[in-house]
Amino acid sequence: MSSSNTPSSTISPPALKPLKLNSAGLGQSTTSKEKPAPVSSKLQAPKLNFSLGGSDNNNSKSTAKPATSKLTPPKLNFALGGSKSSGSSKLATPKLSFSLGETVAKPSIKSTTWSPTTTSLVLVKRELETHDSMSFTFAAADQTLFDFKPGQFVTLAVEIDGKTHYRAYSISSVPQQKQLRLTIKRVPDGLVSNWLADNLAIGDNLSALNIAGQFNSSDCQHKAKLLLVSAGCGITPVMSIAKTLLAQDSDADIEFLHCARDKDNVIFHAEMQTLTAQHSNFKVQLLLENSDGFATFSRENNSNALAHQTGMVSKDVIQQLYPDLQDRTIFLCGPVGFMKAVENIAQESDFDMANFFQESFTPAADNKQQDNLSLDASGASTASVMLYVPDFAVEKKVVQGASLLELLENNGVPIIGACRAGVCGSCKCKVTSGEVKSTSSETLTAAEIEQGFVLACSSTVEGDITVALS
Ligand code: FES
Repeated sequence: MSSSNTPSSTISPPALKPLKLNSAGLGQSTTSKEKPAPVSSKLQAPKLNFSLGGSDNNNSKSTAKPATSKLTPPKLNFALGGSKSSGSSKLATPKLSFSLGETVAKPSIKSTTWSPTTTSLVLVKRELETHDSMSFTFAAADQTLFDFKPGQFVTLAVEIDGKTHYRAYSISSVPQQKQLRLTIKRVPDGLVSNWLADNLAIGDNLSALNIAGQFNSSDCQHKAKLLLVSAGCGITPVMSIAKTLLAQDSDADIEFLHCARDKDNVIFHAEMQTLTAQHSNFKVQLLLENSDGFATFSRENNSNALAHQTGMVSKDVIQQLYPDLQDRTIFLCGPVGFMKAVENIAQESDFDMANFFQESFTPAADNKQQDNLSLDASGASTASVMLYVPDFAVEKKVVQGASLLELLENNGVPIIGACRAGVCGSCKCKVTSGEVKSTSSETLTAAEIEQGFVLACSSTVEGDITVALS
């Protein structure tokens, strides 16, 4: 989602490490030399192998986009530049296993700083948050402190049926801890979210590629008074922001408005109750479309009931709940339509949009039409164009208007589409001839745009096109 709201505050780009390719074509940090310490275990956890390319056309989208369009984007690029062999390479991921109960060998005690490309994650806990969302807590074997900015997301590489899929998920835990929590909602027909919910077991290894996201409370300068607003699974990064501020013993005055369909769809309900009981500077207001049975639900969670009311977000509700709105910084995350409504309310309330930060989070279903994206030589469609990727011997008739990312994935080009929403920059590639229509170029520099680089996830093919990865 794009936004015309551009905070004037100065925001430094996240400290993301540039990536370079190893011989297998895997992006590696150019700075980290840390290796996870091996841990012996009586439980041999399943090992995931990571190969590049061949990602199917799952179109689930985890959209993370700040309202800060003038911010310098993170310089990310882990497109696999021109390595023809990388499409089938197995990546040499750290071999970690996890022991439940008995410890056979102790890992190194020395804490290290997280380097996503060299630190394999080990699942240590699964928690059902709602009927369709789940928190996954990961650890590392080398006492890694997971370093990120509250509100950021991480890109996971998940191998399913021999193919590696990349998805970006928001972090719901606090930085500088030895555990990392991701909270993931099942996307209808979503390949990766449902696979994780159904298959990822305690002790399984998973690989993370990078962390990113300009929507975070470190880079977005904010006042001591905040209004955090979320809906659905958009609560994930906002919860990380709230918990981090509270853990810092911040003097922040935090109002938290969370909207959900009903009681069964309130993620982190018990956690919010606990935080409310512990911190007088943290107040939660739930806004439920249907609050039937909410009182019973709250008591069942064995704590004080959270304040709640029935209804949809509106100007009246906001002004009634937050008469000091102008004194606050707003952090907003949720589905696109919800965020647009809140943005309109803020503007209609003459809110200073320099203090308004947002990130969209709208998962989409798999693209069921993927087989129709590429047409063979006898394809009947007249709305077809040619796709050429010389470095990977791709020469194919495809549907005009199709997603460039999906076309490249379908044809075995090892490109990584992590956020699939024009935010992370992982799908950067170069159009050497032909034309595309792009809806986002947020992570590209002016020089890169001039050279023909585009974000494949945000581009559609409009004519015959030749593409390179670098
Ligand atoms: S996949 Fe993240 S910008 Fe394209």
